[in-house]
Amino acid sequence: MKINNRLKTIGDLVPLYSYPLDIGCDHALLSIYLVKDKNLSKVVASDNKSGPLKKALENVKFYKVENKVKLVEAEGLDSYEEGIDTVTISGMGGLNINKIIDDNRKYLKYIKTFILSPNNYSIAVKRKLTKLGYHISNEVLVKENKIIYEILVFTKGRKYYSYKKLFLGPVLMQRKDDLTKEYYNNLFNTKKDLLEALPKELRNKIKETKKEIKYLEEVIN
Ligand SMILES: C[S@@+](CC[C@H](N)C(=O)[O-])C[C@H]1O[C@@H](n2cnc3c(N)ncnc32)[C@H](O)[C@@H]1O
Repeated sequence: MKINNRLKTIGDLVPLYSYPLDIGCDHALLSIYLVKDKNLSKVVASDNKSGPLKKALENVKFYKVENKVKLVEAEGLDSYEEGIDTVTISGMGGLNINKIIDDNRKYLKYIKTFILSPNNYSIAVKRKLTKLGYHISNEVLVKENKIIYEILVFTKGRKYYSYKKLFLGPVLMQRKDDLTKEYYNNLFNTKKDLLEALPKELRNKIKETKKEIKYLEEVIN
C-alpha cells in the first residue's frame, strides 16, 4: 500500500503480535499498514475529530480492512480498549503527547511500548516517559520533505539518564551516520541562534543552552 516513509518506519517499529492503538490516526494509514503489510490481527485507530475519521473510514473501506481496524472517536487515551499493549502517537506536539499520557495514567500498567514521534519538545516527552517508568529502547530518524523526524520507542522498565544522555538521545548518540550528523548539526545551529537571542536576565536558560551546545560539539567533532 502507499504510505510515506515516516509512517512506514513507525509501523515497522511496532512489535509483531502486539495489539496497538494509534492515537491521532487522521487518515488511519498507519493502522491499515499494520494489518495489511505487517499482518497484525487487529488495531484500534482513534482521533478526537470527526473529519479525519471520515477520511479514515473511506481508507479502511478502500483497503477492505473493516474487520481488522477499529475506528474510534475519542480524546487521547480514552480510546484505550482491553488488551492494547502498544500505543503510537505521531505528528503532534510533545506537550500534547505528554498531556494525553498524563490524563489517563491508569492505563499505563497495560502498555508495554510507546512509539512516539513528537513534532517538538522531544526532551519533555523523554523526561515524562522516563519518569513514568519507561526507558528509551530505540531512537530512529527519518527525513522527509527536508524535515528530520524523531521517532522514540519507549519500553517498560526504569533506567536513569543523565541530562546529556536525555538531551542527545542515548541510542542516537551512538550513531555516526549522515542523517544523525545532520540532525545534531541542525540542533547545534538552533541552539547557537537561541543563545544569541536570549536576554541576559535568563541566566539559567543561558547556562542550560551553553551546556547543550557543548554536548553537541562533543558528538559533532
Ligand atoms: C497532524 S495529524 C497526524 C496524523 C498521523 N498520526 C501522522 O503522524 O501522520 C494529528 C491528528 O491528531 C489528532 N489529535 C490531536 N490531538 C488529539 C487528541 N488529544 N486525541 C486524539 N486525537 C488528537 C488530530 O485531529 C489529527 O487528526
